[in-house]
Amino acid sequence: MSEEKMAKGDVTWFQHDRFGMFIHWGLYAMAARHEWVKQYEQIPDDVYDSKYFKHFDPDLYDPEVWADAAAGAGMKYFVITTKHHEGFCLWDSKLTDYKAPNTPAGRDLLRPMVEAFRSRGLRVGFYHSLIDWHHPHFVIDNVHSMRNHPDRDKLNENRDQRKYIEYLHGQVRELLTQFGKIDIMFYDFSYPARNEKGELDNRLGKSRYDWDSETLLRMTRELQPGILINDRLDLLDVEGGWDYRTPEQWLPREGVTVGGQPVVWETCQTFSGSWGYHRDEATWKSVDQLVRMLIEVVSKGGNLILNVGPTARGEFDDRAMDRLRGIGEWMRRHSRSIYGCGPAPADVPKPDNCLLTYNPTSRRLYVHVLAWPVQHLHLDGLAGRVEYAQLLNDGSEVLMKGLEPWQEAGYEGAKRDTLTLTLPIQKPNVVVPVIELFLK
Ligand code: GLC
Repeated sequence: MSEEKMAKGDVTWFQHDRFGMFIHWGLYAMAARHEWVKQYEQIPDDVYDSKYFKHFDPDLYDPEVWADAAAGAGMKYFVITTKHHEGFCLWDSKLTDYKAPNTPAGRDLLRPMVEAFRSRGLRVGFYHSLIDWHHPHFVIDNVHSMRNHPDRDKLNENRDQRKYIEYLHGQVRELLTQFGKIDIMFYDFSYPARNEKGELDNRLGKSRYDWDSETLLRMTRELQPGILINDRLDLLDVEGGWDYRTPEQWLPREGVTVGGQPVVWETCQTFSGSWGYHRDEATWKSVDQLVRMLIEVVSKGGNLILNVGPTARGEFDDRAMDRLRGIGEWMRRHSRSIYGCGPAPADVPKPDNCLLTYNPTSRRLYVHVLAWPVQHLHLDGLAGRVEYAQLLNDGSEVLMKGLEPWQEAGYEGAKRDTLTLTLPIQKPNVVVPVIELFLK
């Protein structure tokens, strides 16, 4: 890397918007049993392609419907798999024949998607796989679908990873020059491994050298100034080597810190476990869980990108639509506690059964009540600091009033700095009720 510091991406919008949609769509939607199916089942190219590449025909694909679903759920950006590990490309790349226009789909599927989402004001991100189980020069390693091929070593003799690097960089150049402004580049992923001598070995795993990550990073920033780049290029130790961390399918207990300093982060999450469309998975999260997850993430200062795996016919299936609608229903009335928000000020302790978010610009504190208490909610550290309180779902006043002195006489327990709110007996009919507090 050169001496001068590599510019970093602009995280301002990202930390404001907080909520995005991930989309994993490729040939694996047809197998409908995980996007890693080619690798899990060690399916040879000819078998994979004679089934899936040959028959991929998403005749119901309408990106306007997808974009409406994302916008309706309150999502502000989306990240689409331009190419996943299977190597299949959604756009009309000049560098390969292994692309949507050469399947029965017969056209570029990416461009209309980018246009549809952009037209609804969503920002655009590309997920691009560093790994490629189709490209003839990608050196077969221990993660490859052909890892157990009897002629693996022989096949590798004719593979030149540098040619793959050229292809990878060329395709990224296409993606970053032919689709207008791109806000996020999500590279996936590096898994360096060493041999007995302790040397990095690209037949075992793939490191920054197998992608020439530093050149790729520099090119990405040059072609799209301000773009955000995730943390999977194996450049965690390089200045400007990443903009945000990406805990995958888990939630950090607090925020994410590096060297004791909080950093920008986004957790990526699925509805049911797999990223690609999975017909038979029975592990779908409920709307309730998903809304709570979004709140929890923002309360810890992170972003949530929630994944949809569209079907091979080109639709979001009913289970996904149901979740998106449910989230949207909550977001319609409560997005004020999400957008522009982050963790509560350090001197406000977390009340029992609640999650807090805070908007420092409007100075409003949001109390998400996860278990509706009987009558009173006690908020330590807030006595005298709140100007007005209301329920967010209907804008109705919440009285800042605790127990009567005669009720408390003879009992102990109330704290001096506690603000007590009197709540309606009935929990508002929303997934998670929110109380909006206007701080003085
Ligand atoms: C992983 C998986 C993958 C998925 C991704 C999303 O690294 O390989 O299938 O695309 O994470 O974060």
